[in-house]
Amino acid sequence: MMMEKILMILILLTSLTGVCPWRPGQTYVRAGDMVALYCRHDSSSHRDAKVIWTSSRTQERDLSDMSSAEQTRMGLLVRGRSLVILSASVNHQGNYSCSLGNASSRFWFRLIVCTTRSRECEERTQYPQTCYTQEACTLNCPEVNVPAASTPNITSNGIIWHKEGEPKDGYFSSVEENDHGVYTCTRSYLYHRQVYNMTFTVVLKVKPKEKKQVPVITSPRNRDVFDVDLGATLVVDCEAVMYSDFDDVLWLDRKSVVETNSSFPVFYNYTRESKGAEIKMTASLVFKKVSEEDLSKMYTCRLDAVSGPSSFVTITLAQKARPSYVSLVLGVVGVMVAMVLAVVIYARFKINITLFLRDTLGCHSRTSDGKSYDAFLMCYKSDTDTGLNEDDRKCLESVLEERFGYSLCLYDRDVSPGKAAAEAVLDCIEQSRTVVLVPTSPDPGSGSGLLSAIHAALVERQTRLVFIQTETTEAPRSGSLPEALQLLGEAGDCVTWKGVSSMPHSSSFWKQLRYHLPAPRKASKIKLLPTAI
Ligand SMILES: *[C@@H]1O[C@H](CO)[C@@H](O)[C@H](O)[C@H]1NC(C)=O
Ligand SMILES: *[C@@H]1O[C@H](CO)[C@@H](O)[C@H](O)[C@H]1NC(C)=O
Ligand SMILES: *[C@@H]1O[C@H](CO)[C@@H](O)[C@H](O)[C@H]1NC(C)=O
Ligand SMILES: *[C@@H]1O[C@H](CO)[C@@H](O)[C@H](O)[C@H]1NC(C)=O
Ligand SMILES: *[C@@H]1O[C@H](CO)[C@@H](O)[C@H](O)[C@H]1NC(C)=O
Ligand SMILES: *[C@@H]1O[C@H](CO)[C@@H](O)[C@H](O)[C@H]1NC(C)=O
Repeated sequence: MMMEKILMILILLTSLTGVCPWRPGQTYVRAGDMVALYCRHDSSSHRDAKVIWTSSRTQERDLSDMSSAEQTRMGLLVRGRSLVILSASVNHQGNYSCSLGNASSRFWFRLIVCTTRSRECEERTQYPQTCYTQEACTLNCPEVNVPAASTPNITSNGIIWHKEGEPKDGYFSSVEENDHGVYTCTRSYLYHRQVYNMTFTVVLKVKPKEKKQVPVITSPRNRDVFDVDLGATLVVDCEAVMYSDFDDVLWLDRKSVVETNSSFPVFYNYTRESKGAEIKMTASLVFKKVSEEDLSKMYTCRLDAVSGPSSFVTITLAQKARPSYVSLVLGVVGVMVAMVLAVVIYARFKINITLFLRDTLGCHSRTSDGKSYDAFLMCYKSDTDTGLNEDDRKCLESVLEERFGYSLCLYDRDVSPGKAAAEAVLDCIEQSRTVVLVPTSPDPGSGSGLLSAIHAALVERQTRLVFIQTETTEAPRSGSLPEALQLLGEAGDCVTWKGVSSMPHSSSFWKQLRYHLPAPRKASKIKLLPTAI
């Protein structure tokens, strides 16, 4: 309203001074084309007021007053609010005005007819359009200065598209980059069986398809677990990036939407923030006081999107682990149990373990002690007939030597004859790392009477003693054994001979005996040992 009043004052001033102070709207038309000027409605004019058209070429004469013959001669038509020039020529170039009745303001038009392809004319009659590759594209023929559809006796006759002279379709189902360029559209109109044309150029740009932006929840991640203390306040922010005002983020407790009313113990509130095309939304799930019940539930943050696929993430709460002394105590107890177990296992299987290590890995002391024998087998008289007989004794000797690779000092083989018995036995003890006392029955007679003599020697030399006993002598060292034997039995390691059941090489008798004997010197591994020494 204000503007129009100012405009009217200006018009008034113009009419008083005779100087037009503002530039009228310019209309460019190609020579030969049709052009229509339309007189707009003005608030101060009456709807049915007479439209007065003037032209600078006709000394302000009212064109609408001219006869239709005169109008035809000038190549123009006044039809209601429209002034139509059927085929523009240089003669039509000039200033036109229209007003509704004598009270309204005047509207000015400056018509410029382009006879040559000047740059200005080209620019003024070109219209840009942009389409995206692989998308459908419809070329738009501009509707600029076209006659109103209601103009009597002028009917639209369609639009034809050309590109560089070639007829074209104005529609692409999937436009490609090389479809870009300058297109010409011709609107044709029928008036009194004559075709009149309006041409426009449309410059089509084809751009690569814009990346489709997918709305997404950026945080938290699916199956995230939030550690919390019971009774504490917890806020879980669900953040999403979206591209439409209709997209929404909400929190669900199983299937039902969490309350947004903050008077509830669990609720959510949210913020939305626009940044260009992007909308950042944060929905905060608030637990005023985390309860046991909250820990057992799954909460889902859901993104409902119209601008792309919907998505959701599910979270759970977990009670914070307390630093516990129970676990520390359990740990200590566990270590102790493991240690006790290890000791028990070792005690139970120490013989097997030691022999295993010795046999397979060759784990044993290799320090040289200057002795030539591993063991000295010495017989003593068994007080029962369960002692080893001559065959058993030979067997014992050969197994120890040939099977297990020990080097033995045997009284009847290695003691040089002629020596005094006692001296010879002491020699043997001196040369051996171990003394093995073997119960024999009947009495072998060879040196077994020297038992009392060797006790002192054993103690003095700290020679290891292995005391083989029979099942009956195993009974507590009763007075049935000679005193010297009892002393020796207490000083040494005892291994029990159980007759036939002790014969096999894998029997516990052999294992125990080998365990108490030092590792054989001559071979690191018995398996490699040839049968004879
Ligand atoms: C039309 O009006 C403009 C100023 O608005 C003036 O410069 C120009 O000479 C006029 N043209 C004719 C043909 O009267
Ligand atoms: C305007 O036109 C009316 C008739 O349409 C006439 O009575 C009136 O005098 C005119 N006013 C002027 C200022 O020309
Ligand atoms: C339209 O054309 C018909 C005949 O073709 C004619 O009788 C009629 O007067 C014309 N109307 C106008 C408004 O020129
Ligand atoms: C309009 O174009 C058609 C064909 O494109 C042609 O036949 C006709 O003569 C043209 N009319 C004018 C007034 O140039
Ligand atoms: C929220 O809930 C409380 C109690 O249930 C009610 O009094 C209050 O009106 C509610 N507020 C809104 C905004 O709905
Ligand atoms: C959501 O509620 C919490 C707790 O009442 C409050 O601290 C926070 O400021 C609220 N946030 C918004 C965006 O309203």
